[in-house]
Amino acid sequence: MNVIEALQARHSTRAYKPKAVDRTTIIKILEAANHSPSWANTQPWEFFVATGEPLNRLRQRFLENFKKGVTPSTDIPVPKYWPEAHKKRIQKMGDERLAALGIDPNDKEARNKMTENNFRFFDAPVVIYACMDRNLSSWSLYDMGLVSQSLMLAAQHYGLNTIPAVLLVAYPDLIRQELNIPEELAIVIGIALGYGDPDSIYNKYITSRRPVEEFVRIIGE
Ligand SMILES: Cc1cc2nc3c(=O)[nH]c(=O)nc-3n(C[C@H](O)[C@H](O)[C@H](O)COP(=O)(O)O)c2cc1C
Repeated sequence: MNVIEALQARHSTRAYKPKAVDRTTIIKILEAANHSPSWANTQPWEFFVATGEPLNRLRQRFLENFKKGVTPSTDIPVPKYWPEAHKKRIQKMGDERLAALGIDPNDKEARNKMTENNFRFFDAPVVIYACMDRNLSSWSLYDMGLVSQSLMLAAQHYGLNTIPAVLLVAYPDLIRQELNIPEELAIVIGIALGYGDPDSIYNKYITSRRPVEEFVRIIGE
């Protein structure tokens, strides 16, 4: 698969087949992602890959917290404010996703069930937690984004699907305990990995993008 094909084929996958991913493939994906650029080659990424029993225990604990209504508390604070244009795009994506799932926006229970899917890690057989030293600046978060996308494109090459999700890191203390992640590392994002279930209704909705003319300005000949 070439890069353009991988870019076009990648979509956030919210339902997975119960099929394990072999360790060699996981390593190949991370090896490929490791070629990503970073500020002065600092390579700030530290990955913790959870699968099998440890992941299932964590999944159970996440679900328990969610059902008890424990407020998520991510290591990287979530934005408190979005500019109007961005708010609109969030709203559009949310509305379209609910419509595709056949969920009435006023049906709180159905919406809650949809959110719960995040806390069961979309039934993915693997979750990769991308971490970095807490003392690093926003520039290193930029690097974390680069390595994350590289990882997701490499996964695509190996016939695997992914989703980066902030709700996968909603309860960092639980992740830290289960995976022995040192306190000095911020758990930035969780990326679920596995073989997507193309028949699931959760995977039917494909997000749209703004036309290129709207966000590109070419100045000069
Ligand atoms: C930093 C980040 C956090 C995200 N968190 C979540 C999440 O918690 N739950 C979820 O369902 N999707 C999450 N997503 C997926 C986005 O909703 C998705 O990337 C976006 O709607 C575009 O769709 P696509 O990935 O299918 O192209 C997240 C994506 C990013 C980059």
